[in-house]
Amino acid sequence: MERSKSESLFEKAKTLMPGGVNSPVRAFKSVGGTPVFIKKGLGAKIWDEDDNEYLDFCCSWGPLILGHANPKVVEAIQNTVAEGTSFGTPTKLENQLAELIVSNHSYVDKVRFVSSGTEATMSALRLARGVTGKNKVIKFEGCYHGHVDSLLVKAGSGLATLGTSTSAGIPESFAQETIVLPLNDKEAVEKAIEDYRGQIACIAIEPIPANNGLLIQGPEFLKFLREICTRENILLFFDEVISGFRIGFEGASGYYGISPDLLAFGKVIGGGLPVGAYGASNEVMSNVAPEGDVYQAGTLSGNPVAMSAGIAQLTECLKPNFYAELEDKTLTFIQKINAFAEKEGFEFKIFNMGSIFWLSFSNDTKVVRSSQIDPTKLTRFKVFYHKLLELGIYMGPSGYEVGFVSEAHTVEQLNWAAEQFQSALRFCYQKQLEY
Ligand SMILES: Cc1ncc(COP(=O)(O)O)c(C=O)c1O
Repeated sequence: MERSKSESLFEKAKTLMPGGVNSPVRAFKSVGGTPVFIKKGLGAKIWDEDDNEYLDFCCSWGPLILGHANPKVVEAIQNTVAEGTSFGTPTKLENQLAELIVSNHSYVDKVRFVSSGTEATMSALRLARGVTGKNKVIKFEGCYHGHVDSLLVKAGSGLATLGTSTSAGIPESFAQETIVLPLNDKEAVEKAIEDYRGQIACIAIEPIPANNGLLIQGPEFLKFLREICTRENILLFFDEVISGFRIGFEGASGYYGISPDLLAFGKVIGGGLPVGAYGASNEVMSNVAPEGDVYQAGTLSGNPVAMSAGIAQLTECLKPNFYAELEDKTLTFIQKINAFAEKEGFEFKIFNMGSIFWLSFSNDTKVVRSSQIDPTKLTRFKVFYHKLLELGIYMGPSGYEVGFVSEAHTVEQLNWAAEQFQSALRFCYQKQLEY
């Protein structure tokens, strides 16, 4: 596969932007090689600058639940953009998207639109602190909540470790407001609440953690979080930037039937344009400016073009059986590959939750914590990844990232993809034996 145009574009990009990219994982650091520069997408397919065609399972890291250039989304954007791109005033479109959400989602009464998932989690965290008057936040190891200063921390080796920042440029004093705990560990939560009683504003969690593998939590753990938060006057904050409108219209909250106090959304909500949102009950949201004293604003918040893309996409998601069909075809696709891996005795398993899936290069049947993932096994992912690319399949370039199936993926395409996964697996395991 010829990729010389991508290679020269990347060389140029490196002279213009740090690492040649505007978001680090795009740089292919964890799989090696040169990022593929994409010039267009249609349905489930994308094409690079060298005219290579790929079946896309990255789907822009999740937003494109209808696939690329969905005609309804494109039409909505075109109609809106022709009338102007931004006014800095309220528009009817904001009402429409907000209404579409609150009238079909049991867990939010009001939303505030922002322009990214990071902005949504950052603002939700400020709201949690504003409402409770407390500073500390519990987060879990392996959960990513965007590049928010106080959430960009990972655990040390202890059970309940005060955060050490994962990034330079974050004051230690900020990181110290963050308590990082292992996922699915009730005792660790109880101990942290005991140790920091009266200081914790919220417990933040991706209810379906999908940024460090797919770490599906036991429902009883999430229910326990709900109960302990209620008992201890702590807000439960579900970061549903990935799972929201993806697992079902009501995301993980609806799937587990758990009512969080605060929710953050992004990705699917914006139909592929930059949109995030946070939402909660009327009472909690009444603390947001101008109604309340928790300040948060944005020049392009509620941008009409982005709103119209979100309206068009979510309207499709609300059609009967939308999520059931998506899940069914994802399951069929995955089961074919898993059955093959098992038959061949390969250490490999695909985990899924609805149309989100993750490739695990181990025989573990359950992975609930990031510490259960053996980083040395990820060398297999690199070989596998490049083989898949060669075969015409595009995935996010990291073994910790999940893949997404969209409505646009046809059964034929998924059958074909399952065959490519099987030959890539065979190749990968033969190659490993040579080492
Ligand atoms: C769970 C979660 N929260 C927050 C974010 C941040 O969203 P964004 O990249 O739009 O800022 C992400 C991004 O992947 C995410 O997966």
